[in-house]
Amino acid sequence: MRLLPDIYLVGSGEIGLSNPYDCHVYLIDGGKDAVLIDAGAGLDTGRLIENIKEHIDFNKLSRVLITHAHADHSGGARCFQKLGKKVLLSGVETHMLENSKNDIEEAFALAKNAQAYPEDYDYRFFKPDGVLEDRRPIKVGKYELLPIQIKGHSPGLLCYYLKAKGSNILFSSDQVFINGAIGLLNAPGSDLNDYRKDMVKLAVLPVDALLPGHRLFVLKDGGRHINQAVKSLSKVFVPPVL
Ligand SMILES: [Fe+2]
Repeated sequence: MRLLPDIYLVGSGEIGLSNPYDCHVYLIDGGKDAVLIDAGAGLDTGRLIENIKEHIDFNKLSRVLITHAHADHSGGARCFQKLGKKVLLSGVETHMLENSKNDIEEAFALAKNAQAYPEDYDYRFFKPDGVLEDRRPIKVGKYELLPIQIKGHSPGLLCYYLKAKGSNILFSSDQVFINGAIGLLNAPGSDLNDYRKDMVKLAVLPVDALLPGHRLFVLKDGGRHINQAVKSLSKVFVPPVL
């Protein structure tokens, strides 16, 4: 599904575009090169690939940029690696995958209790092919993506910011959603203090299109939704969560 020039939604459980447990998966076509934002849950990666092929030559897809290690975003990583695609995420999330398996498994069990994954779902840890650094631009053909590391939902989550012709786009993952909802979880790694401190990193960006990891996306006035979250976080009550 084309959202904007060169930007496609190729996976989403919520709208029936791919496996029900997939987050929103976005494709950026930079011309000579293309990347995916997130890999879905890994329960039906074939469906994601079919959707990608509707828009680009699959050989052009070089990398999968994972926003954070949660299974609905990274469960498909190994499948893409088997197909020769490089899978990258932040150093903090990589460290967590390698050294905090208990925390991840606890978060995973809590998510299963909320029916976020099927009972028999088995999350496979993966070894990233490389690490992305906060604010170090990523070239994707004619585009440059800026990774912005931000705490709150998961310690090393990366949002990706893209200044495209006519639209400033923020891929906000599970950090912030429309109407200012935040992705605070009752799970290790998610922290309201972190939200209060870090959300300003997004509030300073001019954002037209806000493309989150779940729920509705908006193509105009995305900054308004981010500012709603920042405003809620300035008050003593817990802000609305997804
Ligand atoms: Fe998440």
